[in-house]
Amino acid sequence: MASCIVVLGPPGSGKGTQCAILADELKYAHLSTGDLLRREVASATPLGQELKAILASGELVSDEVVLGLLRSGMEDSLAKGAGFILDGYPRSVGQAELLETLLGELGVELKVVVSLLVSSDVVTERILGRAASDSSARTDDNEETIRKRLTVFMEKTAPVSDYYRAKQLLSEIDGHQDVSSVAEEIRSHVR
Ligand code: AP5
Repeated sequence: MASCIVVLGPPGSGKGTQCAILADELKYAHLSTGDLLRREVASATPLGQELKAILASGELVSDEVVLGLLRSGMEDSLAKGAGFILDGYPRSVGQAELLETLLGELGVELKVVVSLLVSSDVVTERILGRAASDSSARTDDNEETIRKRLTVFMEKTAPVSDYYRAKQLLSEIDGHQDVSSVAEEIRSHVR
């Protein structure tokens, strides 16, 4: 049975960084809903135009759109015989329930849910640092939108941890450590 790993955490907590490391080590596909959405925006389709404004606002995109993009990413990985790591999904309890149904349909086991714990001050500093060093900065990497993204995280995504804790799938990790220490801790939960 193919496996799936979920990595949760606030904006800038290191989800993308850690999922890339883990995907490379496990030979899993790295499915980032943020990257899938940004790719759609870059393709300049009518849907991409709609998504552009939502991403720049820091609000969540509709469950229907995100699930559609994610499902094709999952099907592609399964066709190649690979499991996958979800980066940025689920972002609400509703999405966690949709994921459970989808994994059931695809015959995939949810192995572990890793939650990176990082303070709002540290994630803000990291995101602003990324914006300052990257000439193609993201439209949501500015102080006002970071505040919005953090509010959305607290209201909608934080309860997802309780959902998985109740299912005994949650592993919480101190994400303030350096990248390799966080990766080492994640490895110990994934083995
Ligand atoms: P998404 O792309 O998922 O963005 P995010 O959750 O805001 O997270 P980031 O990509 O900013 O950070 P990260 O946690 O991946 O950290 P990273 O490794 O990059 O989503 C963007 C938007 O898309 C959402 O706001 C929403 O609109 C929409 N969306 C996405 N998913 C959705 C869904 N499921 N439903 C609805 N809408 C959805 O690291 C950040 C920085 O810190 C980097 O510079 C990195 O080098 C550095 N860093 C990483 N780890 C460390 C460390 N340990 N120490 C020091 N620096 C570190």
